[in-house]
Amino acid sequence: MDKFVVRGGNPLLGTIKVSGAKNSALPCMAAAILTADEVILENIPQVRDIETERKLLSSMGAEVELGYGRAQHRTSIKCAVLSDPVAKYEIVKTMRASSLVLGPLIARTGIARVAMPGGCAIGGRPIDLHIKGLEQMGAKITQEHGYLEARAPENTTRLRGAHLVFDKITVTGTEDLLMAAVLADGESLMENCAREPEVTDLAALLIAMGAKIEGAGTSTIKVQGVTSLHGARYRINPDRIEAGTFLLAGAISGGDLNVDSCDPTHLGALLAKLQECGVRCDVGKESIRVRSEGNIKAADISTEEYPGFPTDMQAQYMALATQAEGTSIITENIFENRFMHVQELIRMGANIRVDGRTATVRGKTPLQSAAVMCSDLRASASLVLAALVADGETILDRVYHIDRGYERIEEKLRGVGAQIRRLGDVFGKK
Ligand code: EPZ
Repeated sequence: MDKFVVRGGNPLLGTIKVSGAKNSALPCMAAAILTADEVILENIPQVRDIETERKLLSSMGAEVELGYGRAQHRTSIKCAVLSDPVAKYEIVKTMRASSLVLGPLIARTGIARVAMPGGCAIGGRPIDLHIKGLEQMGAKITQEHGYLEARAPENTTRLRGAHLVFDKITVTGTEDLLMAAVLADGESLMENCAREPEVTDLAALLIAMGAKIEGAGTSTIKVQGVTSLHGARYRINPDRIEAGTFLLAGAISGGDLNVDSCDPTHLGALLAKLQECGVRCDVGKESIRVRSEGNIKAADISTEEYPGFPTDMQAQYMALATQAEGTSIITENIFENRFMHVQELIRMGANIRVDGRTATVRGKTPLQSAAVMCSDLRASASLVLAALVADGETILDRVYHIDRGYERIEEKLRGVGAQIRRLGDVFGKK
């Protein structure tokens, strides 16, 4: 299993480029199921989860081409025939987001068989709200041997438009039901929807494919179902979580870093928090310059749905808080078990106490190098940030977690002065 070796102490200097958003690419690739025509997606990050999505779609009969060379961030998907509309457990168990094919499969073919995602390191993460919404649209859903068997209402292959009110804000739930509604018979009104930029990105692709959608990016989305969709070419958003991770890397290392090819309008909550911490950020149109002499002030965070402080930045922010003067209270409101990085940071010398969903971080504490274990995608990013300022050489194990959502992070960080190398080979080097 690959490892990273990081020698701490170098301030990050220069320009680092942000890739496309993993959490936009996954629903946008699933959306290709909704048409027999070719869908071409650009700015697709080369990360492990995209490879998994490619396998998932190909296993159902789709023709999926991941670009390489100059076109390495382009993907062409053609779901002319879905010979085997089944999301198999072997694939779903490696990536929960595979359940995003449930809505589009029923909408397109009238049937779907999707393995139920199991537990996850950061929380139970049920998909009951996806199922509830599809049933309100007329789907008959049964559970058999770990699989969801879903069928459109009798005597038709089309779902019915419906008035859906989410009991809880769910990102992939909103995306899954949005993809179901665009081919449904009649109008759907969806309320208490997720407002994440990834939802808006998916809606923009669906509209480019001929869908009738209003209100994406707000809590109320209206969809007028159509009988068919056509192909499209679409460029997905930059990854706001990768951009946020690099901003914190620049701040924690006491560097002067230009985070390029990002969309600052998607980072409002994080930028406001960095300002509170006394970290200077100069915001451009598609770039942010972050500067800190390492004098970071403590500030509390509480994770919320967008546009609140993102849960996917909580772990990375905790690493920064270990280097801040004072006490930071970190409250995780979205997932019930998202403090897996705490014990590893404590092994590096951090002063953190957890009480339920709240972590109290006392800083500034000098960090020491240690052998640490990655447990999930964002926890891994937090350990990389801590290793950038730790005294000595830190060994990060199981970095396959970080490869799921960061494209060649060690090369990008080395490009701005970090002493980081990978032991093992980069996944799927083309
Ligand atoms: C998406 O996950 C992201 N994944 C996650 O990013 C992100 O952490 C999360 O949204 C929150 O922002 C993708 O987009 C692929 P939710 P998702 O449904 O959609 C509960 C990363 O690091 N819930 O918004 O699965 C759920 O348990 C990943 O890139 C139900 O109870 O998250 C959670 O407590 C990690 N029933 C809350 O809602 C449901 O049917 C929010 O989850 C659905 C969700």
